[in-house]
Amino acid sequence: MIERIRTRISDLLQIRYPIMQAGMIWASGYKLAVACAEAEILGTIGSAGMNQELFRSQIRKAKALTKRRFAVNIPLLRADAAELLEIALAEGIEVIITSAGNPAVLGPRVRKAPGVLWIHVVPSVKHGLKAQDAGADIVVGEGFEAGGHNGVDEITTLALIPQLADALSVPVAAAGGIADGRGFLAAMALGAEGISVGTRFACTQESSSHPNYKQAVAAANDAATVLFAKRIAPVRAIRNPWVERVRQAEASGATREELEKVYGHSHSRKGILEGDVEEGELEAGQSCGLIRDVPKAAEVVRRFVEEYERDLDRIRRFQP
Ligand SMILES: Cc1cc2nc3c(=O)[nH]c(=O)nc-3n(C[C@H](O)[C@H](O)[C@H](O)COP(=O)(O)O)c2cc1C
Repeated sequence: MIERIRTRISDLLQIRYPIMQAGMIWASGYKLAVACAEAEILGTIGSAGMNQELFRSQIRKAKALTKRRFAVNIPLLRADAAELLEIALAEGIEVIITSAGNPAVLGPRVRKAPGVLWIHVVPSVKHGLKAQDAGADIVVGEGFEAGGHNGVDEITTLALIPQLADALSVPVAAAGGIADGRGFLAAMALGAEGISVGTRFACTQESSSHPNYKQAVAAANDAATVLFAKRIAPVRAIRNPWVERVRQAEASGATREELEKVYGHSHSRKGILEGDVEEGELEAGQSCGLIRDVPKAAEVVRRFVEEYERDLDRIRRFQP
C-alpha cells in the first residue's frame, strides 16, 4: 500500500493521507474522530446536536484516547457558535472546521489563535473566495451529491472542484459523493489536494449513528436519496414517508410557515441517532449506493488508499 500521499493538505494537517472525516450531526462523536486520527487521517468531532457541556466532554474523551491531532466542526448557523469555538480553543483543539454560514463570523477569532488551522466548507466558488479572503487555510468544496445540508446552487462535485481549484490559491478538498478510492482519485484529478468524506464514515462501526441508520445506508441504492426542504434549508437524506410528506407539501405550494410545520423539529436526531427509519431524517449522500457494509473506520481508510493506488495503476495502463 502507498506509504503516504503528500499534498499541501496532508502537510498542513500532518496526516499520512489527505483524507478528512467530515463532521456529522449525531454520527461523528469522539469514537469516530479517534479511530480516524489513529488511522492517520483527519478525524472530526461534529458539534451540531451537542450542547456545550457534551461538546467539551467529547473533546476530553477523545484527548484521553489519542495523542494525535483531531478537528471539530462548528456549523456557523448555531447561535452559540462563538462559545463552541472558545471551548474548542480552550481544550487545545488545533483544527477548526466551520460550515453552514458566513466565514467572517468566526474567522477573525480563529485567526487570532496561534497555530490553529482553519478549514471552511463551501458550496460554490463565490463562497470559496469569501472563505479565502477571510483567511481560511483550506477550503472544502461540497457538491450537490453530499449527504446532509447542501448549498442552494446545486453544483455537483465534478463541476465545482476544478472551478474552485482554479479560483483559489489555498488548497481545496473535495466533498460530496466520495465513498471509495475511485472517488478519491477522481477528486485529486479534478484539482483537489484532499477529500472530506461524510456518508461512508457515518456507516462505520465507530460512528455514533444508530444501527438502523447504518443498515439503511448500506441497503440504499444510487437513487435512494433526495435533496428536499429547499425553501427551508436544503438537505439530502434517504427517502422515507416523512421525507415524502415534506416534499408533497413543497410541491403543493405550501407557505414557508406550513412547510416548517411539516418539516418539524429533531427529525435528524430521530433518524440518525434514534434509528427511526420511517419518520427520521436519514442524512446521507448519493454515494450510499456504493456502501454495502459497516466496517471499522480504519478499514475504510485502508480501502480508500488501496483502491486509489489500484485505480491509478489502471488508468496509467490506458496510455499507449
Ligand atoms: C449524517 C450526516 C450528518 C452531517 N452533519 C453535518 C454537520 O453537522 N455539519 C456539517 O458541516 N456537515 C454535515 N454533514 C455533511 C458532511 O460534513 C460532508 O460535507 C458530506 O457528508 C460530504 O458528502 P458525502 O456524504 O457524499 O461524503 C453531514 C453529513 C451526513 C451524511
